[in-house]
Amino acid sequence: MKRIAILTSGGDAPGMNAAIRAAAKMAQYKGMEVYGVKRGYHGMLMDEIFLMEGSFLSGIIERGGTALLTARCPEFKDPKYRAIAAENLKRRGIEGLIVIGGDGSYHGADLLAKEHGIKVIGLPGTIDNDIIGTDFTIGFDTCLNTILDAISKLRDTATSHERTILIEVMGRSAGDLAVHACLAGGGDGLLIPEVENSIEMLAFQIKQRRNTGRLHDIILVAEGAGDILEIEKKLKEKVSTEVRSVILGHVQRGGAPSGRDRIIATRMALKAVEVLENGEGGVMVGIENGTIVTHPISYAWEGEKKQDVIDLYRVADVFSR
Ligand code: ADP
Ligand code: F6P
Repeated sequence: MKRIAILTSGGDAPGMNAAIRAAAKMAQYKGMEVYGVKRGYHGMLMDEIFLMEGSFLSGIIERGGTALLTARCPEFKDPKYRAIAAENLKRRGIEGLIVIGGDGSYHGADLLAKEHGIKVIGLPGTIDNDIIGTDFTIGFDTCLNTILDAISKLRDTATSHERTILIEVMGRSAGDLAVHACLAGGGDGLLIPEVENSIEMLAFQIKQRRNTGRLHDIILVAEGAGDILEIEKKLKEKVSTEVRSVILGHVQRGGAPSGRDRIIATRMALKAVEVLENGEGGVMVGIENGTIVTHPISYAWEGEKKQDVIDLYRVADVFSR
């Protein structure tokens, strides 16, 4: 394979730049021409495709976000537009495409492979950790650490005022960020979309904690678990402590990638180049039990869902008492 392209799509995630850099450098080292596609599928459609020089890659490893820019492109669900986008690659002789994004981006990549024979490789770039076929996604670890920093700060003020603070974290319909943040941040309660949540039970736990002398409660609420302001309202009716909500929002998506995210991004990107070098495609790369693996791209939504969120939720529940 002589020419490949790289794009980032969907929500940005810290570590995407490390993946771009590793894939491009290794592919160039192996004698391939590497193209960058700006703004994900939108740029592919609008022909925003450029030959990537070494200078583009310089210094990006430590930067959050994505140097290739990212976008959402609703037109890509229409085969007519996918055909135009595919033609923009083919005209340049580009045979392979590395797509760094979440499962929505993987759907687009899967269709490009099936309809237009492009050798696509999916790299899991999302803070949500919601992709089957990899234990962790690129960006999750950095995001988790950002949340932990926020928890520490919120705990200081929660204790001083003896308040209950609900912290809404991102994750779309996955509770991974909330569960991991609760466990690692010593959270006192947890609401996630994967289990049925009971405000009644949460209120009971808060009262129990206060009866045993605790001065604050930090409750992690996954955004997919429901409207935090509704939850706050219902909780206020059941407890006597002062309840406040904090929506962490997009601060969770930024920041320099952690060492862990840079390393997993690099390892996955190197595998992507290896697969393309062998003339193969149609796969996603992941790391399972420490080992680099590939799966057909559709495994990301057809594979067996990870159980560990529920297992860790149960542990967090014990620790919250
Ligand atoms: P993520 O990749 O982070 O899950 P999105 O779900 O927003 O983010 O998807 C990113 C982009 O992938 C969309 O804007 C669209 O261009 C493309 N995409 C998503 N779903 C599909 C689909 N079913 N078919 C084709 N393209 C899709
Ligand atoms: O998929 C990443 C993510 O940050 C989700 O956690 C969140 O639900 C969504 O993207 C937010 O998207 P936007 O940046 O379009 O508001």
